[in-house]
Amino acid sequence: MSKRTRDETDEMEAGPSSAVASPSPAPSGLSNGEVALLKVPQKRFYRQRAHANVFIDHELDYPKRPEEMDWATHYPQYFTSTSSDDTPTSSKQVEWADVGCGFGGLLMALAPMFPDTLMLGMEIRMSVTKYVTDRIAATRQAQSLLPADSTEHQSGGFQNVSVIRANSMKHMPNFFKKGQLSKMFFLFPDPHFKNRKHKARIITTALIAEYAYVLRPGGILYTVTDVKDLHEWMAHHLRAHPLFTPIPNEDLVDDPILKAARTATEEGRKVERNKGDKWVACFTRKEDPED
Ligand SMILES: C[S@@+](CC[C@H](N)C(=O)[O-])C[C@H]1O[C@@H](n2cnc3c(N)ncnc32)[C@H](O)[C@@H]1O
Repeated sequence: MSKRTRDETDEMEAGPSSAVASPSPAPSGLSNGEVALLKVPQKRFYRQRAHANVFIDHELDYPKRPEEMDWATHYPQYFTSTSSDDTPTSSKQVEWADVGCGFGGLLMALAPMFPDTLMLGMEIRMSVTKYVTDRIAATRQAQSLLPADSTEHQSGGFQNVSVIRANSMKHMPNFFKKGQLSKMFFLFPDPHFKNRKHKARIITTALIAEYAYVLRPGGILYTVTDVKDLHEWMAHHLRAHPLFTPIPNEDLVDDPILKAARTATEEGRKVERNKGDKWVACFTRKEDPED
């Protein structure tokens, strides 16, 4: 990020193990030309409290406006650093956002399936974001070191996927221009069961208006949860919004993206292992409230 803003106070939300740096320090004593191999990160080194308080001021970096976001560190194959006059340095832009991406399972599944689409995870928890960052770096490096004739090459080499630490409930329009996104994912979001906690849910009337702003007409908002009450809440609020229209589930049965959204995230896999139910509600962003 070139010019950035910062919330006032830092957060110390994590337990003692959260301050863990990368578990794979660069080995010393490398000879010239040798590359330090990044290890695939292990979740146990990135433990953090299950829920972040979305209302306190976290120490977060975010651009004042989307034009000031420097995407070069996230997608080096697609961007060079932002020029001083805010001229875009790439014809590409982030198009899909996994909001509350957790450990990044969806992104890692979709990246090679859609190698030409830039996708971004947004995650508020520091250690979890670090895990996904390290996971992407290790996977990119492993891909780049494969012999040319290897059958393990994945299309795009994971250069189209990245993650940012962000509070999506506060800063969505800081990162994305109006109509920039074509897909938004809200997968197994924190349920915040108690009535007095409902305001912390990631789908509320006020937030839906922001999501409608960054999602382009025709774009799709996916929700999946194993909590029936939360499913009903999300579907009810989205149905009530004039800029969203529900997509019948049968229209998406063959959609590989929905399949990944249901099954590829860490939470989704946990629900599968426990043989729990999954509730799906997907909506299209309308062009016009009258449509
Ligand atoms: C229950 S987890 C689900 C993670 C992932 N989507 C999955 O299915 O495995 C919800 C995630 O959303 C993140 N989160 C909650 N509120 C957020 C916010 N306002 N902005 C960004 N991330 C948020 C949490 O830190 C947590 O990692």
